[in-house]
Amino acid sequence: MFPYRVSPYLHIVENRLIPNVVQYGASHLLTGEVVELSERLRTLFSKLEVAKTLWLSEEDLNSQIAEDCRLRLLIEKEFLIPFHLDPLAPFVSGYVVRPVQNPALAYRAEDGRTFLVRTSMAQHEFSPAINALPTVIEESMSPIAARIFLQSDGTRTLAEIYELLDAGSSPNILEDKSFREALDFLTEHSRQLIKFAPRRENLEDPYQPFNIVPRNLYHSARWNAERNDSSQQTIKDFHIEGIEDASWEFDVIEPTINHALRFPSEPLGGLDYGSRFCLSTMKPEIFPSLSELNRIKILEVGGGTGTFARSFLEQASQLRASILKDASLSYHIMELSPALMENQRKLLAEGRHDVTHFQQDATEFNLPGHEFDLIISNEVIADFPVAAVRRAETEGQDGKWEGEGALYIEKYDLPVEDAPASFMVNAGAFQFLERAWQHLAPGGTLILTEYGGEHAYPALSFHLNHEEYSIHFGHVSACARKIGFNCRLLTLKDFLQVDTEVLMLNGKEEHILCLNHAFGKFREQSPYALISKKEFYERFQKILGQIDLVGFTFSPLRTGFHFGPNLSDFMALVMNKPY
Ligand SMILES: C[S@@+](CC[C@H](N)C(=O)[O-])C[C@H]1O[C@@H](n2cnc3c(N)ncnc32)[C@H](O)[C@@H]1O
Repeated sequence: MFPYRVSPYLHIVENRLIPNVVQYGASHLLTGEVVELSERLRTLFSKLEVAKTLWLSEEDLNSQIAEDCRLRLLIEKEFLIPFHLDPLAPFVSGYVVRPVQNPALAYRAEDGRTFLVRTSMAQHEFSPAINALPTVIEESMSPIAARIFLQSDGTRTLAEIYELLDAGSSPNILEDKSFREALDFLTEHSRQLIKFAPRRENLEDPYQPFNIVPRNLYHSARWNAERNDSSQQTIKDFHIEGIEDASWEFDVIEPTINHALRFPSEPLGGLDYGSRFCLSTMKPEIFPSLSELNRIKILEVGGGTGTFARSFLEQASQLRASILKDASLSYHIMELSPALMENQRKLLAEGRHDVTHFQQDATEFNLPGHEFDLIISNEVIADFPVAAVRRAETEGQDGKWEGEGALYIEKYDLPVEDAPASFMVNAGAFQFLERAWQHLAPGGTLILTEYGGEHAYPALSFHLNHEEYSIHFGHVSACARKIGFNCRLLTLKDFLQVDTEVLMLNGKEEHILCLNHAFGKFREQSPYALISKKEFYERFQKILGQIDLVGFTFSPLRTGFHFGPNLSDFMALVMNKPY
């Protein structure tokens, strides 16, 4: 029999993102590894809080209970450790890293002291209410903690850092009290400033365990029903009543790729998103009727803040003499949210752009007398309603589907051979395609972009203040073909020719929040947007040098841990209405 105990570096985290479900995980503060905690394991850990020791023989470890409780895995991952082992000992030869997903930064003040700028890593709340962003904490670090943090760039083991610091009052790292106190400060759950990687490989991968900061996950609108019960609100009601502030909605709640790339940007060859979109659209293979038109009538559906329209129109005016052969442009935006419509009006009036606005629901829009040459809907259709479908259980009904979405399967020949027993269909997107067909001139083009996949069934997106579903592009394409469109499905990356190898600043809103806290001392701010390494240094070089800022990192755009959604999740569906 061997005695084991629970590592003091084990921390239990909870996830309350799925309504009425609480998931528990054991996280290891030094490795970032998380093991899902079954009811049985939670009972075992609470018993161990009292008993302290778990006696296990080889036979026990081979038993069914051990298998069920995944005891071997817990031992292998250092959650359960031999009773007399120093829990830090296995990590002395580990490479010390600052987790990429932790937004913490350190800067040097004028008096030479190092300060930490961070948010609490104890929990993360999705879709925070207005002005409820996480609090930025600034605290001074002991010289030894500061030096460890500054050295933790993944190139050195803990033993090497110890040697380098020459901190040792003791020749043995494990017996050095002040060094260990500094490590406790750095690894404590609400900080998680350093972690340990077994090798120096994949250190830049933001999703490796050592780059993750496991914490409690909540959703402002779901984890506490009393605070905000939005369950009765339909998606349409939400867009009419629920959006109060355009900047908050797109900076924090629901950044779009367009919003993240609204400034001229390196991955788009120095253009912004709307301009690049315009260039990718004004091509014969995408917009075949272009060369015949002397007046191009465009409808944008779901205009957001209005930046897409502004950039698209500015780029189009530059193309007038060339590709557009002096054709004039008339631009229209259809929008459901009054707050966003107001924002669009204001923004476009500033640029003196002549735009017509309609407030309508795109899934049932009706604009008598209007026929458009081009309809664009950028990152909108996931907002449209879905309909549920399930496999019929009634005897003799094999292969039949029921539920409010079942009618679409037959109507549009949706491929469902690989469907699970119950699923959603993007009913609102189908209805929108029907309406767009009615309003499109023969030879006209309809372009939709959104996140989803060619074969992936619509999945609930949990990080928004309203419910929305990803797009099954295979189904939407089938619907479009049935209506009469010729279709081409592309990745958004290919449609816009985005260079995803460009190094971009890692991190989400919290990272920008911490950066802006430090930059604020110099009256500088970084917008909530994607920014490349080159652009970042061009803009902030002076401050960075002045305060020796440490903690920000970069990775290629393709890795996806950047401001806004992950580009690789997005597709573009191009549809042409035959003459
Ligand atoms: C995720 S935002 C995208 C905004 C913008 N196209 C962009 O890419 O940044 C979705 C937009 O579509 C609008 N919208 C959502 N549902 C709509 C509907 N049924 N009819 C019209 N507009 C809608 C929203 O109000 C918002 O402006």
